[in-house]
Order: sequence, then C-alpha cells, then structure tokens
Amino acid sequence: MNVHDSEKIMKLMRDSGYEGTDNMREADLIIINTCSIREKAEQKVYSQLGRLRKLKKERPDLIIGIGGCLAQDKGSDFIRKYPFVDIIFGTHHIHRIPEFVKSVESAGEPVIETAFRESVESLDILTLPQNGNISSYVTVMQGCNNYCSFCVVPYLRGREESRALPDIIKEVKALASCGIREVTLLGQNVNSYGKTLVNDHDFADLLREIGEIEGIERIRFTTSHPKDLSERLMNCFARIEKLCEHIHLPVQSGSDRILGMMNRNYTSADYLKKVDRLRSICPDISITSDIIVGFPGETDEDFQSTLDLMEEIRFDGIFSFKYSDRVGTPAADFEQKVPESVKQERLRILQSLQEEHTLELNKELIGRHEDILVEGVSKNSHNDVTGRTRTNRIVNFKGDSGLSGKTVYVTITEACQHSLRGNLFMK
Ligand code: 5AD
Ligand code: SF4
Repeated sequence: MNVHDSEKIMKLMRDSGYEGTDNMREADLIIINTCSIREKAEQKVYSQLGRLRKLKKERPDLIIGIGGCLAQDKGSDFIRKYPFVDIIFGTHHIHRIPEFVKSVESAGEPVIETAFRESVESLDILTLPQNGNISSYVTVMQGCNNYCSFCVVPYLRGREESRALPDIIKEVKALASCGIREVTLLGQNVNSYGKTLVNDHDFADLLREIGEIEGIERIRFTTSHPKDLSERLMNCFARIEKLCEHIHLPVQSGSDRILGMMNRNYTSADYLKKVDRLRSICPDISITSDIIVGFPGETDEDFQSTLDLMEEIRFDGIFSFKYSDRVGTPAADFEQKVPESVKQERLRILQSLQEEHTLELNKELIGRHEDILVEGVSKNSHNDVTGRTRTNRIVNFKGDSGLSGKTVYVTITEACQHSLRGNLFMK
C-alpha cells in the first residue's frame, strides 16, 4: 500500500515538472512516505530525519515533505520537533502534493494537512507504468473497520471506503493498454470491497470484470481478513482463469486466547476450516500469512499453538513480526508485556520453522512445468531472466531481455530458500 502511495507521489510530481533522482544530495524536493504500523518502521523515519536536518542546513532551498501514516499521526507536533520540514500531509491528501509544493515555493510557509476526508480522490490517481514494467498495483479501497487491538491502521487510514467499480476498470484498462500484464488489487481488507458503494458490487464481481479485460493475464490481491473470507471469493479461485493461485491470509497467532485478545474474531479451527476449503477449491493454492510473536500475555503454550498451526498448515511463506506497542491501540495498555529477549527468541524459532517449510515446498516443485510471467533480466546474472510462478514464487532461468513481459513454460530444476531455478521448456 505504501509503495503504491509513493508511486503516486512520484507520478504527481513528474507531471508537475519534477524529475526523479537516486541521489538525495541532488534533489530539490525530498518527500518521505512514512509507515507507522510497527515501531521499527517509525524508527527508520527518525534516523532519516536526522540526515535531512543536515542536508537542509547545507541547502536551505531544499523542500522537505513528510507524508503517510506517521505524518498523519504526529501532525503539527512534527513541525515543532523538526522545524526544517516544510510539508506534513496525511494519507488522504496525497493527490494534493503538487499544490502543497507550489505553496511552499511561493509563500515559503510550512503546510500541514492531516484531516480525514470522506472522498477517495487520493485513490483515483492513475499511476501509468514506467517503461518496461509488466506488473502494477491498483488500490481498490482504503481504510479498515476491524480494529484489531494491536493495529493503528483504522486510526490513521480511517474508515473503509471503496472506489467505484467503473473507475477501477478504467484504470486497469489504461494499464493494460500501456503493456501491464499483471495487476495486484490493494485494500486493507478486500473482502469488504463494495460495502460503501451504492451499487451492489462485491469483490468477486470486481475480480470477474477485471478477468474480462484484454491484455491482463494475471490478477492478484492483498489483503484478506480470515473472518470475512467468503465462499463467493474462495470460489473465484476455481472460476476466474486469470486469478493467480495465491492468497495472503494473515493468521497473526495460533492461540485462541491470543486471537481473542487481538480482536480477530476467529479461532484457529475457523482458520483451518477456511484453509481446507481453499485447498479443496484450488488444490495448488499457495497460502502466505502474517504472524506476530510476543503479543502481551503470550505464554510459551500460546507460542507453541502458533508453531503447531504452522506445522499443520505449512504456509508457503510468512511475514513475521515482534509485537510492538502502538500508541492509542488497546493492546498498548495491556499488561504482561513480553520481554524483548523472549520475543527475539520466539521470532528466531518461528522463522527457522518457516524456512524449513518453504524449502520443503519449493523442493516439491522440482520437475514440474510452471507458467512464468517474465519480469526482466536478473539483477544477479546478465544471462538469466527472472519471473514468477502463478503462486508468486521467483524463478530464474537462462534467457534474454526479449522474454520480458512474456508468459513462458519453465521446468523447475533446483529449489533454493527464496527462489527456484529452471530451464525454458516452451515459449
Ligand atoms: N506489532 C507488530 N506487528 C504488527 N502488525 C500490525 N501491527 C503490529 C504491531 N503493533 C503486523 C500484522 C499485520 C502486518 C501488516 O503488520 O501482522 O498483518
Ligand atoms: Fe489492522 Fe489488518 Fe486488523 Fe485492519 S484488519 S485493523 S489493517 S490488522
């Protein structure tokens, strides 16, 4: 979501006459798009701000903007603490960034804009691809109404709001006409797509319509809350050819006691049932997840339940995090905080179990023919190209840049921890 917001900012500033640079020292305008979902992300922003303070001293004309969740949260406090910052803007104001920059250029006064807005204008910016890209994100909704007890998103991104279906279709068609072959639909909880719309469209309708767009070969989406994963949506995996066999379904914990405290509204048995159903509808589906270790009150038994669930499911991959307090969330006030050293050790155990599972599952693919959408020449070797299976695994194989954007068949020959190797079997 944040990566896509940054792409939108780039696009808006390019349209306003700015050019991108990889060298921070050359820039006339620096915008940091912040994330505050976990403490680590927040710390990164503060160390970046230290660097920017020095840069602004050397070059007082440099314009510095801070956007995204952390800016939303800290608002005017931020300007007081970091007076060298010129623009603070929240997640609902991305579309206004050129206006803010112009205002600083002409008036020299700081701009602070962090209020929530009902409209979804910030989602309607078309980020047409840069040369050579074959894959693009498309935001379908913003906000979240779920209030998981550890999460700041509902407070910082606001209530759920969906973009109108025709606007999304228009964007995907425009992307297809620019050479995009794969779209990833973004929303905090795509299962709620359509609830705020006057028409009776739901996410399955949206998938079906995108499935008809010529030029688009693959559709992905993220994220789906397990409690809302509907039979209708699960059935899309069997019915929509272009929908890739991969679902990111964050479980967060395997302990029912912790899931209750997290306000997730499902049990580990409910989650297992959904996984079984998905696998019966689509036997090859790849399932990935998010897991938090060290939630307040998490005991060794609770943690063991998470490991047991992982053993039972054997996720294709996970993102795992140490719990961190987020100010304003209920969990920040929960007692029985887990010591850092325990969190660290649990994370290590969990990650090494997942590594075993990922490698085992990757090895099971050796000898199989896989449909690969080629993304381009590999960064590690000029003789190789890199692409992804429909289940979102990276595959490298011998080939040249002429294959970019094409779907080819590859025989898998080798399995590593984070990628596969193969031989071109058929173009
Ligand atoms: N601490 C640790 N992890 C968190 N996440 C969200 N909030 C927190 C927090 N306070 C994780 C969840 C979520 C992912 C995007 O980030 O696993 O699914
Ligand atoms: Fe946060 Fe996701 Fe829960 Fe929404 S569903 S509150 S975004 S963790």
